[in-house]
Amino acid sequence: MKLLDIIDKKRRGGTHSADEINALIRMAGTGEAKDYQLAAWLMAVCTMGLNLDETAWLTQAMVESGRQLDFSHLKGVIVDKHSTGGVGDKTTVALVPLLAAVGEEAGVKVAKLSGRGLGFTGGTIDKLESIPGFETALSNERFADQLADIGMALSSQTADLAPADATLYALRDVTATVESIPLIAASVVSKKIAAGASVIVLDIKYGSGAFMKNREEARELAATCREVGKRLGRRISTVISGMDQPLGLAVGNSLEIQEIVDLLNGRGPKDLESLCIVLGAAAIQQAEDLAGIHNTDMSVEERLRDALNDGTALAKFQHWVVAQGGNPAFLTDAAQLPQAERIIDIKANQAGYIASLDALSIAQAAKLCGAGRVEKNAPIRLAVGVKLHKKIGDAVQIGDILAELHLDSPDVTPDEQGAIASLSAAFSFSDSPVTPPPLLDEIVV
Ligand code: URA
Repeated sequence: MKLLDIIDKKRRGGTHSADEINALIRMAGTGEAKDYQLAAWLMAVCTMGLNLDETAWLTQAMVESGRQLDFSHLKGVIVDKHSTGGVGDKTTVALVPLLAAVGEEAGVKVAKLSGRGLGFTGGTIDKLESIPGFETALSNERFADQLADIGMALSSQTADLAPADATLYALRDVTATVESIPLIAASVVSKKIAAGASVIVLDIKYGSGAFMKNREEARELAATCREVGKRLGRRISTVISGMDQPLGLAVGNSLEIQEIVDLLNGRGPKDLESLCIVLGAAAIQQAEDLAGIHNTDMSVEERLRDALNDGTALAKFQHWVVAQGGNPAFLTDAAQLPQAERIIDIKANQAGYIASLDALSIAQAAKLCGAGRVEKNAPIRLAVGVKLHKKIGDAVQIGDILAELHLDSPDVTPDEQGAIASLSAAFSFSDSPVTPPPLLDEIVV
């Protein structure tokens, strides 16, 4: 089978066979398919699309391109939750201990492989590295042992898992071919299946701070992921959530860990808490179905809320941090986390109501100051970030603090000047009251 014919077929809008997709992914793995040929095929897919059969075959081929984790020797249900990426999205770190706390009876084991931030979105591994001593690169053996011992483990994703996705994703990132629904679905679902989970919950974001810019695209992506999961023998739950404004109040690695501690003390921002409860409920409900448990005394949501308020989830967080080598002192003393040297207040120069709060501008401000990376593997500044005081719908007076910019350099640099401008421009005002946009859209468990 000739690669050129495969590319040409898609360029003309043809439909691939499973053999053609398998051949393409095999050639990508051996290097027989050159980057420019794969890029041409990706662009053809972006404009011509893939149907559900083709998307499922691509997903399966990507799963089979590398190692597949198998935790079948462990008793219990392996749970994984994934977000398509947003601004201030720290739900993964909060959900690991929360799910472990509430899912004990169903034998839930939270097995999470995460990445670093790239582009404007933050990365779970970077956030966790704000915790002194926390180890994010666990060996396979240690990962499995920790899952068996404490029911939760999180590590950086290794290169041998769905390597074809890593090859294609790196090309998509530099050829404007990221935003294709079948390519995103195959990329996300292949990694989740290769990572060995039997319960998969996807948080699909839409809005200015997300890959999907509107809810229709997000719904299509969710439906595609669910159907591809079904064809590959996995039930996938999807939650669609808005990302027009950041989630919670903190954006930036160390600041987000502090906000998680607040949440696990029952004092988290309401939007973050609601999303964690909805995602957590989808995961626990699936796990309990699989384990044949029907707990009718209390709803899953009530049990999750209790775990946030009674310290159970916080205790699990401490357990997890210690298991991965971290110093848990930050749980009672936030000063143990990296702290900013300077805080610049961004103040309102008009009164009214916050009409919009552009998530992308906030992310760009944090990234300009060093909270995110411009190139893969570049170092980042863990203490840097944005703490919001106002969100959409809030009333403001002239001089009120809208947001704090946390910096760790002694003098304001030109990039930081740009960040201050970006942060100020993120807010727009209205004279009349504003209803905040809905956080949650479609939930399919
Ligand atoms: N996240 C992924 O893992 N893959 C994509 O294609 C987009 C977001």
